[in-house]
Amino acid sequence: MLTKMVSGKQVFSVIITLLLIFLLPPSHAASHLDLGGIKDSSSSINSQKVNLSVYYEALCPSCTNFIVQNLIRVFDDDLINIINLRMVPWGNAHVNKTDNTIICQNGHDECVLNTIQACAINVWDDVNKYYALIYCIEFLAIEGRHRNWPSCFSSLGLSEKPILDCYNNGTGAKLQALYGYETAHLNPPHTFVPWIVVDTKPLRNDYENFIAYICNAYKGNVIPNACKSHPHNNVSSIEEENPIYPVCYRGEAKNLTLLRPIKRIPRLRRAFWKVPGKGFK
Ligand SMILES: *[C@@H]1O[C@H](CO)[C@@H](O)[C@H](O)[C@H]1NC(C)=O
Ligand SMILES: *[C@@H]1O[C@H](CO)[C@@H](O)[C@H](O)[C@H]1NC(C)=O
Ligand SMILES: *[C@@H]1O[C@H](CO)[C@@H](O)[C@H](O)[C@H]1NC(C)=O
Ligand SMILES: *[C@@H]1O[C@H](CO)[C@@H](O)[C@H](O)[C@H]1NC(C)=O
Ligand SMILES: *[C@@H]1O[C@H](CO)[C@@H](O)[C@H](O)[C@H]1NC(C)=O
Repeated sequence: MLTKMVSGKQVFSVIITLLLIFLLPPSHAASHLDLGGIKDSSSSINSQKVNLSVYYEALCPSCTNFIVQNLIRVFDDDLINIINLRMVPWGNAHVNKTDNTIICQNGHDECVLNTIQACAINVWDDVNKYYALIYCIEFLAIEGRHRNWPSCFSSLGLSEKPILDCYNNGTGAKLQALYGYETAHLNPPHTFVPWIVVDTKPLRNDYENFIAYICNAYKGNVIPNACKSHPHNNVSSIEEENPIYPVCYRGEAKNLTLLRPIKRIPRLRRAFWKVPGKGFK
């Protein structure tokens, strides 16, 4: 079912786009691309907000856990109001230089899910909506049921049509190319995923403490409740090379069945599940 959605024409378009992206120098790639159908969200960015960028891939167990158990906390209270959350679904994917196809660390399904998530981020533009979809997909991945991802649309009351259109009409491939380009040009480069960057600072192995870094970086007057328990404390300045939390290194494909099950996830108290059972309209 997953492979049927990729037409020959689309594969060709991926190849051409990737060629463009990876061959052009950094300053030119974006401006030379035809970005038809791709929204530029930078105009809506509030300068007081802290930029939280999450470089991840859909089926890496540590990314999955981070999204479902940790990052979700930004929706628990008002923290989401002081951040620009940027999800960048590409991770350790790379381009086969011989035939210019995308190879994802955890296989073809991961490429599909990265692209679906890229489409959701772009089409909806509303972090509550696209995070709900990403969360749902990642939740299924933890349970070993990621192929049930289409069920997320109905369980959330979200329309699948614009997302599948984006996937099938080549926009998804362009978005992947942009994310791949951005990830490949991280400075300093990422060594594993999830790779979390607060403003310009990569958190490296301390990524699970991302809230403390957000609160430290925030310069606004209205202190969110989430930061009251994280006063401007000193976050770790040690940049150890050995991660203390699990990660996915480049080139290391993890066996998803090794993932420990999560005991209990209180879905319904999450802010983005606005009206339980009703979903979004
Ligand atoms: C890259 O593509 C070539 C040509 O299709 C193929 O022979 C090779 O196995 C691919 N490499 C990887 C790592 O998949
Ligand atoms: C592809 O689909 C998306 C989502 O519906 C739409 O915004 C975009 O304009 C479409 N692009 C093309 C080239 O048809
Ligand atoms: C956050 O990102 C926006 C858009 O890239 C940028 O203009 C702004 O300077 C960034 N803010 C900080 C504090 O780095
Ligand atoms: C943070 O650490 C620095 C250096 O160790 C120290 O000078 C400073 O007072 C600390 N700040 C707070 C708020 O504890
Ligand atoms: C993952 O691990 C399980 C249990 O050890 C094994 O049965 C399965 O074949 C492995 N899958 C892959 C893709 O290595």
